Amino acid sequence: MDQTDLRAPTRTAAVRPVTPQQRTARAARNGGEPTLEFADRVPYDAYVHASTLHTLQQPLSTDPGEMSFLMVSQIMELYFGLTCHELRQAQRDLRADRVWEALAPLRRAALHLEGLNAAWRGLRWMTPADFNRFRNLLGEGSGFQSAMYRHLEFLLGLRDPALIRPFRRQEEVYDELRAALDVPSLWDDVIALLARHGHDLPADLLERDVTVEHLPHPSVEAAWVEIYDDGGPQNHLRLLGEALTEVAEQFGDWRWNHVKAVQRTMGAKVGSGGSAGLAWLQRSMARVVFPELWSARTAM
Ligand code: HEM
Repeated sequence: MDQTDLRAPTRTAAVRPVTPQQRTARAARNGGEPTLEFADRVPYDAYVHASTLHTLQQPLSTDPGEMSFLMVSQIMELYFGLTCHELRQAQRDLRADRVWEALAPLRRAALHLEGLNAAWRGLRWMTPADFNRFRNLLGEGSGFQSAMYRHLEFLLGLRDPALIRPFRRQEEVYDELRAALDVPSLWDDVIALLARHGHDLPADLLERDVTVEHLPHPSVEAAWVEIYDDGGPQNHLRLLGEALTEVAEQFGDWRWNHVKAVQRTMGAKVGSGGSAGLAWLQRSMARVVFPELWSARTAM
């Protein structure tokens, strides 16, 4: 199991499972109040590691606004990771033809992306003058170098192998990204599933080189038109299409919100990560997630 994937369940010694009977007995002994005495570290911290989490903020300036920039970035990183976790579960379900089961992790992914998008609000206060007070201290650091965001893009089928180059000096991170490129994206898995459900998809599409970006294909678009035209109650594939659309839309919203945040805080200045800034991001945004799910709507 790789670092970026679901972590193996661990049983922290300080978190002791209880039975419903033990819980009821404890509440009765407490007379309606929460437990205040513990022999050890509180179980909440043993589980959430909150005390560790709150040591991970190391601002570079004394500017009071920098903390929200840093923590919003960390919160977004966690959401990137959580969304990847859900999409991998959806992949496992789809590869095993469990379409109905895949809907739950996809729904969770869309909801996490909604939470991710809400996090932008924490940066709406930032004017260019506010950002300039600590921007230089970030050096060449840029969200462009987020490995977890790249995992998310790769899962969604946005695959530019050149974008793993920045991680060459971080062997483990690089190897995980390389490995992520070597396996099908969620969209590749969806296309394989459609073929298994009898949709007419050419072999060269099903056996394509998955390390590079999938190019929109008319046969995939035709399959979705057919699926959406079937109004039957057992049509799980249409529900799958809608669940995927929601994920794509929420992800698109993140990219749009990011561009607006960039425009708001630094206009069209060049980026800290070395790019042209706004113009580069607008080009990057032009890549479409699950392209045929969108284009098919014209033919429905
Ligand atoms: C308002 C504050 C922000 C500004 C001004 C900003 C600016 C930029 C710029 C200019 C780029 C293009 C690459 C470069 O740096 O040259 C970029 C890319 C990126 N930033 Fe931000 N950013 C901000 C906030 C964030 C936050 C909070 C995150 C969350 C972790 C983030 C994640 C990313 C990602 C993932 C990319 C790569 C996008 C892609 O590949 O299409 N950014 N950012």
